Amino acid sequence: MLRRLHADQPATFAFTDANLAWAEGQITKYPEGREASAIIPLLWRAQEQEGWLSKPAIETVADMLGLSYIRALEVATFYFMFQLQPVGKIAHIQVCGTTSCMICGAEDLVAVCRDKIAPEAHALSDDGNFSWEEVECLGACSNAPMAQIGKDYYEDLTADRLGEIIDALARGEVPPPGPQNGRYASEPLGGLTSLKEHDSGKTQYNASAQLAVDLGETVKRIDGSEVPLRMPWQGGANVDAAPATTPVDRNRGASSDRSGEAPGQGAGVTAAAKPAQGSVAPEPGNRPATLTEPEEGGSDDLKRINGIGPKLEQMLNEMGFFHFHQIAAWSPAEVAWVDENLVTFKGRASRDDWVAQAAALADAKT
Ligand code: FES
Repeated sequence: MLRRLHADQPATFAFTDANLAWAEGQITKYPEGREASAIIPLLWRAQEQEGWLSKPAIETVADMLGLSYIRALEVATFYFMFQLQPVGKIAHIQVCGTTSCMICGAEDLVAVCRDKIAPEAHALSDDGNFSWEEVECLGACSNAPMAQIGKDYYEDLTADRLGEIIDALARGEVPPPGPQNGRYASEPLGGLTSLKEHDSGKTQYNASAQLAVDLGETVKRIDGSEVPLRMPWQGGANVDAAPATTPVDRNRGASSDRSGEAPGQGAGVTAAAKPAQGSVAPEPGNRPATLTEPEEGGSDDLKRINGIGPKLEQMLNEMGFFHFHQIAAWSPAEVAWVDENLVTFKGRASRDDWVAQAAALADAKT
């Protein structure tokens, strides 16, 4: 199935304060330079906030993690846990259509969705409350056919039972997830045939279904305010007490510092080259020569250097680098200075050998 960005996109996206604090806390779980590993939880939280993932939301997350937009788009379009179009206000229903479920009646479940929700997948019901799609195996094959509704699995479904569940959700009820045919978990329909002693002391529902019932979040979107995020990797501090050294904070620090000149900077060096809060101050002598504006004829297209995208080009321009010959002239110590001052892109200059690339591009110009 093709997974594409929705035709109608909002102009902007911004995390709520609570979600932004949560997202910044998640980023601190990962070592510097590996912040991209936080992409799935951040995309998920953006989806929880809005109901679906818009292009601005994906790009916002990419910016927070110092990723090119295409890298974030690759993740968002690959996993069908991410919804790329608006979904029903009450629930989005994902019917498994793979082998076990197909054999056991998935087509009947799809027919219920077509009848009760909308004739086509990914379309909203007339009241906007429901949407549906067919997905690949969700890993509950022994309880086929099944569907994921919101965050939880409804298993051992029949067409009638799925219809009842949709009707109940429309009334504001949330039927308990898990097997819907009387089974406790994945045991034979006639009951346990061995290990019966483990049958005692069990909770009302099997462990995952019980957890779902206890959490009560099957079709409820979390908004970041339910549980304060503890960060044991930062000494157990609450998110409110998090030091302002996450990549996001560092990025903000650089942005807000662009109005003044950093101490010790020579004429023509923009304030954006000032080390971000929490970074190691570079040796002044290692700062490369910079320009306040491009030379006559205009800037070179620095994006022709492999590894430099629009964001990095803008950052370099703000630091005072506009031309291939400037970059080609960097000494190893100056490359180290640039690497250190690229805020969320630290290390890119040496990693992608900008000097050699710039030299070749400068030669080609002459
Ligand atoms: S085939 Fe449906 S859950 Fe695996």
